[in-house]
Amino acid sequence: MIAMKHSLIAKYRKDEKRLDKILAACDASQPPLQAARALLYALLQPDQYAMRYRYEHCLRACGWAEKIARGENWDPEPLMLAALLHDAGYPFCKTMEEWPAHAAVSAHIAERFLSVIHYPPSLSSVICRGIAIHDIWMDVPKDATAFELSVRDADDLDRFDALRLCLISHGHIREKGAAEALQICTQRLQTLDAWAMRPCGTKTAETLWQNTLSMHRETYLRLQQQMQRTLDMENTLFPQKEGDAPCCD
Ligand SMILES: [Fe+2]
Repeated sequence: MIAMKHSLIAKYRKDEKRLDKILAACDASQPPLQAARALLYALLQPDQYAMRYRYEHCLRACGWAEKIARGENWDPEPLMLAALLHDAGYPFCKTMEEWPAHAAVSAHIAERFLSVIHYPPSLSSVICRGIAIHDIWMDVPKDATAFELSVRDADDLDRFDALRLCLISHGHIREKGAAEALQICTQRLQTLDAWAMRPCGTKTAETLWQNTLSMHRETYLRLQQQMQRTLDMENTLFPQKEGDAPCCD
């Protein structure tokens, strides 16, 4: 992982200077989570929508991380730090081609930050590994620990929460008619069945994940019923089609 990380980081050397400056301004006397939030804010500069979404997403992932950690009786701080910084590398991955590198770049940033604030090295290494693998969906490394998988769980729990449901459904449905919307509902419900198989790192995350999927399922089932009623209305109450309009002569 380290070798891969360094080859990717080499690409971002010019950004490294910016990172150096931001890290130099880090206040190591602050509580770690406060310092991490300040770092994230300085990196993402969330004054434009794309980075504001990313910044707020990281805050929300941090909230999910706390829920998972408390549900598992872990000290919440390390997992919250990992979730808060899991996408810190996005500003250095400027194109769609570079996005797949964001996990490794984020892990590199976290590694440097945790060293600056003198975080315990044993915790830093699991935090960075969790960040480095947080974007792997199904083929997660066999030796990944529950903690490391939980960074990805915290990320996905926000990625599939209510905001994402609104964005996805708006993108898919828009102004489509009932027949087409019905097909989309069927496809989405099949996709949800596949998502339900996604392995989680902990029992707590599994419960939270299934609850999140239930929200999606209920929405699409409800929409499916509404679209079916629309078609049924036309077929039962108003069977006459436009083409067979009565002649007025
Ligand atoms: Fe994320």
